[in-house]
Amino acid sequence: MNILGIDVGASGIKGALVSLEKGQLSGERYRVPTPQPATPEAMAEAFAEIVQFFNYKGPVGCGFPAIVKNGVACSAANIDHNWIGKDIQKVFGDACGCPVYATNDADAAGVAEMRFGMGRDNNGLVLLVTIGTGLGSALFYKGVLIPNTELGHLNWKKNVNAEQWCSSGARSRLKISRKEWANRFNKYLNHLELLFSPDMFILGGGESKYFDQFKGQLKTNALVVPAKQLNNAGIIGAAAFAFENHG
Ligand code: BGC
Repeated sequence: MNILGIDVGASGIKGALVSLEKGQLSGERYRVPTPQPATPEAMAEAFAEIVQFFNYKGPVGCGFPAIVKNGVACSAANIDHNWIGKDIQKVFGDACGCPVYATNDADAAGVAEMRFGMGRDNNGLVLLVTIGTGLGSALFYKGVLIPNTELGHLNWKKNVNAEQWCSSGARSRLKISRKEWANRFNKYLNHLELLFSPDMFILGGGESKYFDQFKGQLKTNALVVPAKQLNNAGIIGAAAFAFENHG
């Protein structure tokens, strides 16, 4: 069975059909740039364009870059502030004509990796960090998700949170080299390790495809691995979320 998963990001909105038996994409991804400003209206159009591209009818899973409670956006770090308090499932569902099920994007990626990827069979404490425009986090203990952890928003320095210091977005905005960025990111992982003592870190998001270039700079006690599905984990987890929540 193929379910459409859509990973809504601050820079791009990516969708693909997902085989939940195999835990992988069953075809090509289709990506549209996230409209700027990323208002509910403009993003709904882009979301509907993806659903139309696949000529899809059925439940659609959506990973969304904000705190998501019962389908409602409760924060808006890298998207338009008009999202706060909006029912994501209704805004996107009305635009595309399909039932939409929304969850936090990093939580979606985490669920995919725990079920089908690097966290499979890990019964300890696993922390997935997505590195993209923002920094997302998904925390699991004995396979159970503690949702909306938002560890990218840990206060880091005066008036600077971790995401503003060591996300991929920060790397481009501050024009720092990948080497300097990895040095920062290592410090961030070390801080997370001090707080949570995870058994494993899984790195997802756009930056995870460069893992080989920076893994040598990461010095933690816990194992650090790239997500098996790299940046596609969010799409797969979104599809799984829709499948589970669709009546
Ligand atoms: C948001 C998180 C999101 C992360 C990755 C952060 O700015 O607050 O909700 O998971 O970006 O998109």
